[in-house]
Amino acid sequence: MLDQSRYYIIGAFLLGVALTAAHNQRSSASQQEIENATSERQLKQQHNLLSKLSKINDLDTLKKSLVEIESLLEKGAGSIKDGIEGCIGDTPLIKIKSLSEYTGCEILVKAEFLNGAGNSPKDRVALGIIQMAEEKGLLIPHSGDTVYEGTVGSTGISLAAICRARGYKAHICMPNDMAIEKSDLLLKLGAEVERVRPAPIVDQNQFVNLARTRAAEHTANSDKPGRGLFADQFETEANWRAHFTGTGPEIYEQTGGSLDAFVSGAGTGGTISGVALFLKSKLPNLQVVLADPPGSGLYNRVKYGVMFDPKEKEGTRRRHQVDTIIEGIGINRVTHNFDIGRELIDDAIRVNDDQAIAMARWLVEHDGIFVGSSSAVNCVAATKLAKTLGPGHRIVTLLCDSGARHLSKFWANVEPVGGAENDVSLEKILGA
Ligand SMILES: Cc1ncc(COP(=O)(O)O)c(C=O)c1O
Repeated sequence: MLDQSRYYIIGAFLLGVALTAAHNQRSSASQQEIENATSERQLKQQHNLLSKLSKINDLDTLKKSLVEIESLLEKGAGSIKDGIEGCIGDTPLIKIKSLSEYTGCEILVKAEFLNGAGNSPKDRVALGIIQMAEEKGLLIPHSGDTVYEGTVGSTGISLAAICRARGYKAHICMPNDMAIEKSDLLLKLGAEVERVRPAPIVDQNQFVNLARTRAAEHTANSDKPGRGLFADQFETEANWRAHFTGTGPEIYEQTGGSLDAFVSGAGTGGTISGVALFLKSKLPNLQVVLADPPGSGLYNRVKYGVMFDPKEKEGTRRRHQVDTIIEGIGINRVTHNFDIGRELIDDAIRVNDDQAIAMARWLVEHDGIFVGSSSAVNCVAATKLAKTLGPGHRIVTLLCDSGARHLSKFWANVEPVGGAENDVSLEKILGA
């Protein structure tokens, strides 16, 4: 069949679908007298497109209009979200203009801080963990069932919000050196919070171990209603799978499958593994690059296959190992979620605190983007990679959370944002 006639048949089919959708929308609107300006506008847009479509003679214009109408129909069908869980995923992909202009590459960021429940990529993971437990009958709403988690903050905030929405309680164990606004937020979401001394994983009071113990204690206590569920973000399959089925496919669609590199930090490793597993199955030549903060062993693991010098091994140092103000990424053990995608990580870039601090300020100063420490690390690494690859490449990374969650710690170190006269150049930031 001729290419042109095939497109006209598809066009006629879509036209039929669109007319039916438009009719349904209109009749239900008149029945219920819904005063919804948005759907009115969508309806008008659809009609305009349909009349435009019927007048088109040129194949390329027709193709473009079909794509446009398809996306409008999708938006029309999904414009009402089903609870706060419906606001998780489908985050925008944004071009960072200043970094793209400087490097000659397209630097694109997935705005994960726009996930609607806990405002970070951990919304996807928290929802996945809760749904998996519900499917297995391990959580029953309004029974007193409580989700326990060890987290530096983001996963706890996402779990606490989603638990509220679905009738569970949340109990969060976190290191006491994390920004105080994270535990304040958890308390406002009605979670129980235990801030504990930072400790290596071999210590039973380390925040992850403590959460596991608390969950078991709850289940064993017959005086306490419900059961305890240990969310276990570092080891659970639900973590990397949330990015394999969500973040990865979204990036692939949003870039039309055209990208050269994906850059991400790793805390549990769920994001980098899940995204890498999906994207590399579609794009075998894609470069996956880890962005790693000071004190983390992952950089050496990726670059040289060894995690650390034996004297740095977790549990053998007396002081807290990850000496950085960057929160959420960097770790000194290989978790299941990192391990599952480990072989797909091609390279690693080390980013220090000064670079992250300067980048956070740069992004506000030049792009009006206000983010937290791990996002700043990602942007430094993506810019460094762009300089190495040279102009003309497309690089995707993540903006994980807002700077609002880091005011008292990371952002307290950032020089005031006050206009171009205080500018630090990107050369200086990358070389700092
Ligand atoms: C703010 C922030 N960014 C990035 C990450 C890292 O993501 P992942 O655990 O998937 O490696 C985390 C993890 O907790 C985080 O809190």
